[in-house]
Amino acid sequence: MKAVILSGGSGQRLLPLTSKTTKQLLPIANKPTLFHILDRIKEETEIKSVVVVVSQDFGHQVKETLLNSEYSKYFSMDFVFQDQPLGLAHAVQITKGQVGDDSFLMFLGDILIEKGEVKKAVEKFSKDNFETTVFLNEVEDPRPYGVAEVDGERVLKLIEKPENPKSNLCLSGIYLFKPSIFFAIENIKPSFRGELEITDAVDFQIQKGKKVGYYKINGLWFDVGTPENMLLANQFLLSKIENEIESEVNDSVKIKGLVQIGKNVIIENSEITGPVIIADNTIIKDSKIGPNVSLASNIVIESSNIENSIIRDNSKIKNIEVTISDSIMGENVEINRTLKGKGDYILGDGIKCMSS
Ligand code: G1P
Repeated sequence: MKAVILSGGSGQRLLPLTSKTTKQLLPIANKPTLFHILDRIKEETEIKSVVVVVSQDFGHQVKETLLNSEYSKYFSMDFVFQDQPLGLAHAVQITKGQVGDDSFLMFLGDILIEKGEVKKAVEKFSKDNFETTVFLNEVEDPRPYGVAEVDGERVLKLIEKPENPKSNLCLSGIYLFKPSIFFAIENIKPSFRGELEITDAVDFQIQKGKKVGYYKINGLWFDVGTPENMLLANQFLLSKIENEIESEVNDSVKIKGLVQIGKNVIIENSEITGPVIIADNTIIKDSKIGPNVSLASNIVIESSNIENSIIRDNSKIKNIEVTISDSIMGENVEINRTLKGKGDYILGDGIKCMSS
């Protein structure tokens, strides 16, 4: 079995965070979503070969990041460039040469799933011997998703973004396919949004009498395509961390709860309330950090309070009067005065806002 990860898409709902970084590389608990996906595949399957579909705009960024990561030592990786955003089924179709005659696990690159689910689904797929198995998740409002109608073990119908959904089971962006999916994709037409939908390809298989099954997710699942969902996923991953403190912390610092502190971190006269992750080379003075904060490396924080937020590398945050909360800040951000608003900032890479 192989894996195919779709890492295209423009990340419109995450602008300005995605103006210079593609959404699949934005960190959740200090690690890009793509790395979390590769962790699931590495820990829970036998897969050693991964095909990553990337966009023209950010493809080289994704390729470079993955090839420079520890995952390139474990997986063999192929990168396929999708010229135009013609849909998820089109993205799958262009991997045909790399996938060959193997079955494959497909992940949309902006999905996070709790440990253990992938293993159970792959086991079920191998046992059932169905053509396709889709991961389904129960949601309150399924209208923004592909929606499944099921009966017993089988999926009876799949519809992409229906106005009047007949169930609350949504397609969760993870699929198990046999290579016969390529034939189905060749036989579908673009949808109302002008894209070749993977939902329609699987529905084509059902209409042709092929066996399509499902795995219902029991644990947590996040589509990290919005800032709100990124922060929820961050909270969830931080709730699972273990205490690990790799720098000297003196008595002027109060630490409560689960905290990970990397190397060369300097903290003075501050309170850290876990869960919090602080990566290497960060300096924190006269500040309150946490709960639910991920700080990347080379950050300076002075006289500021931060909760429920993600702060990326090389940022400087000083003298902010309101509590920074529900915020995501890109790389190289510098703020040195209170911005307008309640303290919930979504700031793209390189934003500078200094007191005059
Ligand atoms: C895509 C799929 C949809 C699925 C969703 C999961 O939607 O087309 O079936 O439910 O991912 O996140 P999109 O994100 O392209 O709107």
